[in-house]
Amino acid sequence: MPQQRLDKLLSSTGRWSRKEARELVRQGRVSVQGRTAAREDEKYEHTAEIRVDGAPVDCSPFIYLMLHKPPGLLSATRDKHTPTVLNLLPEHLCRRGLFPAGRLDKDTTGLLLLTDDGDLGHALLSPKRHVDKVYFAQVDGLLTRADQEALARGLTLPDGLQCLPAGLELLEGGRACRITLREGKYHQVKRMLEARGAPVTALKRLSMGPLVLDEALKPGQWRELTQGERTALLALK
Ligand code: URA
Repeated sequence: MPQQRLDKLLSSTGRWSRKEARELVRQGRVSVQGRTAAREDEKYEHTAEIRVDGAPVDCSPFIYLMLHKPPGLLSATRDKHTPTVLNLLPEHLCRRGLFPAGRLDKDTTGLLLLTDDGDLGHALLSPKRHVDKVYFAQVDGLLTRADQEALARGLTLPDGLQCLPAGLELLEGGRACRITLREGKYHQVKRMLEARGAPVTALKRLSMGPLVLDEALKPGQWRELTQGERTALLALK
């Protein structure tokens, strides 16, 4: 993520002009990551914890984070009983109103996008959009060419849900697969594979549209999207 001068970051909030921002820094009223800023031309990413007179300041219009979701956390902003993915983020980012764009089950791991960009969230989740989501699944059972063909035609689940055609790549001799959905109904991968007699024992999301999980991120780790990732994603808006 490109870094920007501190006075530019401050003035991008619309609260101060560049000149006023420079003055604030010179007066020692600005701190970054807990340390008083010495110069207005110091450069930081806009997710840095910037404060003016001790009060936190949001310096970017929107934030886009890639999280490698670990098991055991809810894809929600808050819950009375269970920790959510937001518990992984520092306080100053939580205050921005970030939310997970798309849900993963509590036991599902992998790619989750966190953002405060509501329009992008809508675009990604809109049923009309058909953004590809790719998952790696391990199953109890054996998937075959017949399952591949059935998914390619579009499954009808026992409860009547008509699924769009989906891709299925067999792995590990059929005990695992890479499955590509163009929609995101409740527990959809689990329901589809269960309907084929191969209940899911582990599920991980690998990608969502142009966004691919960075395998350098360990479960629980997150990073900002790169400029390229951000541009590709925003093209969906
Ligand atoms: N499908 C599921 O069944 N679970 C998920 O978490 C995501 C897709």
